[in-house]
Amino acid sequence: MKHLLKMMDLSTEEIIEILNLADQLKYELKNGIPHRYLEGKTLGMIFQKSSTRTRVSFETGMYQLGGYPLFLSSNDLQIGRGEPVQDTARVLSRYLNGIMIRTFEQKEVEDLAKYGNIPVINGLTDFAHPCQVLADLMTIREYKGKLDGLNFCFIGDGNNMAHSLAVGCLKVGMNVTLVCPEDYYPAKEIIDFCETFGDKFRIVNDPVSGAADADIIYTDVWASMGQESEAEKRKLAFDGYQVNAKVMEQAKSDCMVLHCLPAHRGEEITEEVLEAHANEIFDEAENRLHAQKAVMVKVMS
Ligand code: CP
Ligand code: NVA
Repeated sequence: MKHLLKMMDLSTEEIIEILNLADQLKYELKNGIPHRYLEGKTLGMIFQKSSTRTRVSFETGMYQLGGYPLFLSSNDLQIGRGEPVQDTARVLSRYLNGIMIRTFEQKEVEDLAKYGNIPVINGLTDFAHPCQVLADLMTIREYKGKLDGLNFCFIGDGNNMAHSLAVGCLKVGMNVTLVCPEDYYPAKEIIDFCETFGDKFRIVNDPVSGAADADIIYTDVWASMGQESEAEKRKLAFDGYQVNAKVMEQAKSDCMVLHCLPAHRGEEITEEVLEAHANEIFDEAENRLHAQKAVMVKVMS
């Protein structure tokens, strides 16, 4: 595994290997066992969007692995003033051992990987959020003891999270239901890929029937970073797509609820449902640290 650009690039075996390593790294951290697998290595972290979890977990994770993380805000980099990604990639490859990037276009991440010669990790684009999904799968396996055969239901915008979750969950053997309003379906290439899994995948419009028999219900914000100006329009479009008590009634009694966070209580999820599932949601946030450490070890050591 050379980079982590999107879930589509990973084989099922690679996903499971990352999850196994993440479990091991979590155990080592909790038990005070040194795990400085990236001693002396440097990770540049380019952020063109805000972040709490991704920034802090990568930075802390790199430190715990014995390496050195550099936070690179696009406000300060020449990339923010128009220096081409091709040149940035070639320059940073001379200094660093790896790059994590959060940006808008997926192509920018793919170009960094193409023109540079160091590993690139996607820390979120408008198209994908693979680091989040690896932490999500890790959390689901911790709670359910398995992944294969579980019923996974995503309710909301067919966005970067819906894309990466659908692909990742199908690859590990889950049955995936996406519940999205017609005008907010995922990208065609994602739907085409998911449809190759036959009846393990469906996309529907009604949250109540979509949530039937779910083992995991997942939601995300209605307006992602960069879509703030559409927030009011989206609130109207997603009316009826809230994860609330009525939706939860349809799911299995031991259904987990996950959210990548940040959450907008009273919009995509009620306060009541979020707080009833706070244990798994904040374990999920913690697991960003362990899953990303596993990714860094896989691509950088
Ligand atoms: N879930 C997630 O990526 O959070 P941040 O935007 O805080 O990094
Ligand atoms: N879909 C959200 C995810 C945030 C982690 C966004 O892109 O803003």
